[in-house]
Amino acid sequence: MSAAPRGELRVFEAPQAVAAALADLFAAEARSAIEARGSFFVALAGGKTPRAAYSLLAATQRRGAIDWPHVFIYFGDERCVPPESDESNYKMASDSFLSKVPIPPKNVHRMHGEDEPRRAARAYAQVLVETMGEMPHFDLMLLGMGDDGHTASLFPGTDPTTGQEQLVRAVFVEKLGVDRLTLTPPVINASRHVTIAVEGAGKASALHAAREGPYDPVKYPVQIVSPNDGTLSWLVDKAAAGLAG
Ligand code: 6PG
Repeated sequence: MSAAPRGELRVFEAPQAVAAALADLFAAEARSAIEARGSFFVALAGGKTPRAAYSLLAATQRRGAIDWPHVFIYFGDERCVPPESDESNYKMASDSFLSKVPIPPKNVHRMHGEDEPRRAARAYAQVLVETMGEMPHFDLMLLGMGDDGHTASLFPGTDPTTGQEQLVRAVFVEKLGVDRLTLTPPVINASRHVTIAVEGAGKASALHAAREGPYDPVKYPVQIVSPNDGTLSWLVDKAAAGLAG
């Protein structure tokens, strides 16, 4: 493959507009999945970017529009920390919306960052199989991208195609000196819709290289995102698109 499939690029004036679009997309995908199949399976991105969108999901006008008991929450990756740590992606999602909407706790499946990483990865893969079948097909996969082109916890320097036979991997991230848990590309690419939210001028170079440059997923792991039958969209602000004045 000469270049990663680029997907639809939606550029917004500022981060607040990206957050609103992401929250609206979540609500729309939830409505459509629940209408079609009776449930909505979504994998959440971590980090800072999605926090504002998650908070909007807890706001009344969207909270009422989402049939929470039919929403099933998973995570695209997790830091190897306890759930009460401020580093935890689960804690960020719980604080910003999961604790504020009427979703049954049994519908929320966090990765156990507090456990030994390889054991936690195996356990989460088991949760995926038990709740979604041998190859999970998420209705919506939310991802972010780092300024180095990483996504989920697939970081440069490690070939993201390693461990393709696994659904979840424990990885040691050299540049951060930490262990992480991450869904693997086969799971990400089995999704019906993948959305990557990217904000800030610091990510403009990686975003351009990932979308316009040669296909090199070891250098830019986000390039591995290429839904098999699903769709890919990027929600970015002008700064990340390199258009800020
Ligand atoms: C994480 C995320 C990671 C994130 C990017 C962007 O655990 O941090 O899953 O892949 O999406 O690092 O992070 P920011 O949104 O904080 O820039």
